[in-house]
Amino acid sequence: MKDLRSKIDEIDSAMERLFEERMSVVERIAMEKKAAGRAVEDAAREKEMMDRRCSALGDKRLEGYYTSFLRSAIEVSKQYQTDIIYGPDSLGKDILVENGSLFKAAELLAVGSGKVLIVTDSGVPEEYSRTVARSLSDAGIKTSFCTIDQGEANKSLESYRKVMESLVEGRFTRTDAVVAVGGGVVGDLAGFVAATFMRGIRFFNIPTTLLSQIDSSIGGKTAIDFCGVKNIVGAFHFPTRVLIDPDTLTTLPGRQLSNGLAEAIKMAATGDAELFSILEISTDLKNDLPEIIRRCLLFKKGVVEADPKESGLRRVLNFGHTVGHAIEACGEGKYLHGEAVAMGMLYFAEGEARQRIETLLSKYSLPVGHDIPAARLAEFITHDKKASGNEITVVKVSKIGSFRFETINIQDLRL
Ligand SMILES: NC(=O)c1ccc[n+]([C@@H]2O[C@H](COP(=O)([O-])OP(=O)(O)OC[C@H]3O[C@@H](n4cnc5c(N)ncnc54)[C@H](O)[C@@H]3O)[C@@H](O)[C@H]2O)c1
Repeated sequence: MKDLRSKIDEIDSAMERLFEERMSVVERIAMEKKAAGRAVEDAAREKEMMDRRCSALGDKRLEGYYTSFLRSAIEVSKQYQTDIIYGPDSLGKDILVENGSLFKAAELLAVGSGKVLIVTDSGVPEEYSRTVARSLSDAGIKTSFCTIDQGEANKSLESYRKVMESLVEGRFTRTDAVVAVGGGVVGDLAGFVAATFMRGIRFFNIPTTLLSQIDSSIGGKTAIDFCGVKNIVGAFHFPTRVLIDPDTLTTLPGRQLSNGLAEAIKMAATGDAELFSILEISTDLKNDLPEIIRRCLLFKKGVVEADPKESGLRRVLNFGHTVGHAIEACGEGKYLHGEAVAMGMLYFAEGEARQRIETLLSKYSLPVGHDIPAARLAEFITHDKKASGNEITVVKVSKIGSFRFETINIQDLRL
């Protein structure tokens, strides 16, 4: 036994040296990919590697074990390459932000084998889903479409049924995938279908509104509305990959763009003072959007990773939501979600931070005041929060780029 153990130690030492040697080659490949602007992922090469290496194995009983061993080595190498190419402050290889990336959907999504159902809505310019489909088809992937009507009213059981039917009638299987091309409505719905079809299949998200690009596309929350209650039926199902093409925002109506900017301002105010300054000094939003999106995603990714199931820290994303939600509901359709959150933030910002937030909201055509009576808001909040008692935890900002949680009595809310 002792001899055998020292033999293992010997082999492990040799493997340690080989590992170092392998990683230094991986590093050189990463540098070449970086210089050539190529993606980390190379599905064809990976497959070829797996096939070739396993065929050289003498003892066939070990094949399964060796395959797992190799897969881990490949994953570790890809992570190392990602860190080298994008730096430690990177979004990783699964969230890509790049102008014109729709045209490279097949390469960047790396869907692999299987069929793809592209889900979109009637308000999303058709060229986006067509471009994605063309890229996938050129790579030999069979694609089909399911288009739902646009608007929140269609994040519904009826739309869920329609997308599900497309999968069943198209004879999709567990190895196939759903790709969402659209805003948060399409992403939430398609993600929920992917979460539940055959107990979960792969989901890829290509968000095309600013709100979905910086917020809803990552975080794994998928849902539909039901019985008049938003997001009441849903599941956590993380997208395999998210592809963001800021160029798609050129067709987005100005009001929708501002709606997304409200969320960006929220994230900047609570967690990224530099992003706040970028938004303040920007004179060419189109040019600055890729960086704004990247920074928002870094912030949200950090929060989600620290609290994937929303049991603590993730509530920072609710800055402005306590009152914002009430304004949205009492406004009865007058305000978009982001607009309501914009006004909601002002109730919980103090001093100079409040002043800067208000100025920034005005710069991006977001409302800073409303005419809903305070008593109506109070009534809504009391009713809304009844289940959690008289106390609520709110997010407060008194210095841009930082926040604190505060538990207060609903009666003490200054509306
Ligand atoms: N899952 C999450 O974590 C999360 C977070 C925030 C919000 N959400 C959800 O997101 C939804 C709102 O998302 P949204 O604001 O993207 O709304 P949306 O999906 O309804 O899109 C807004 C409108 O823009 C159109 N559109 C989309 N892309 C376009 C483009 N590039 N050019 C022109 N028009 C385009 C759509 O057809 C739609 O009419 C809500 O249902 C909300 O609950 C989810």
